[in-house]
Amino acid sequence: MEISNLPKHVGIIMDGNGRWAKLRNKNRSYGHQVGSKNVDTIVSHAFKSGVKALTLYAFSSENWARPVEEVDKLMKLIEQYLKKFIKKVVKNGVRLSIIGSRENLSENLVKLISECEEMSKANTDRYLNIALNYGGRGEIVRAVNKLILENKEITEKAILESLDTADCGEVDLIIRTGGEKRLSNFLLYQGAYSELYFTDVLWPDFKKEEFDKAIEEFSKRNRRFGKV
Ligand code: FPP
Repeated sequence: MEISNLPKHVGIIMDGNGRWAKLRNKNRSYGHQVGSKNVDTIVSHAFKSGVKALTLYAFSSENWARPVEEVDKLMKLIEQYLKKFIKKVVKNGVRLSIIGSRENLSENLVKLISECEEMSKANTDRYLNIALNYGGRGEIVRAVNKLILENKEITEKAILESLDTADCGEVDLIIRTGGEKRLSNFLLYQGAYSELYFTDVLWPDFKKEEFDKAIEEFSKRNRRFGKV
């Protein structure tokens, strides 16, 4: 697909795994399992399309309130994803960051995250951020506290550069699958001027063609950033 003005940084709220499974008389975790396979498909496709940075919402700081079995399964899937795809990601020049708080994550997962980040830290071609135990408000609070600790002036630019997504700047396009039309505490600061794209397609069905539709729609939008 030839698109002239591609978004540089895309955020995705991957919603609808539970409903996708329910429609097939399966449990919610099965939906997450199929959804996690789709993560690889869309990550590869987005980077091939020319997107520079991708931020995926995998687990919010509010998702701990879900049933323990569902939380455990999601953590396992994220662990499997990191183990399985990290080499491929590194080889393709991608810097992987797990954004959000490390609080309450298992020791094993924290160790794996550090290893993956270390392996890819020299890459600067593309950026993949997986938001895990993440909330936009919490991220802003952490960024401001970091500046205070470093005795730095609190400015809009300084906050942007202290966020978990510091290397990727603002987010141009936020896609939400699954039919809901809200941000759910995702990329609140860096998304101040994001274009929003909502689709009823459930995440496991959100394939390459659906991604292309979102990019095409973005390319037609007139971004004014508050100007006329
Ligand atoms: C929302 O669907 C989805 C999530 C809370 C988790 C997203 C996780 C994945 C796609 C898989 C694991 C991620 C990686 C990076 C390997 P929902 O359960 O709220 O769906 P529903 O709205 O239909 O109930």
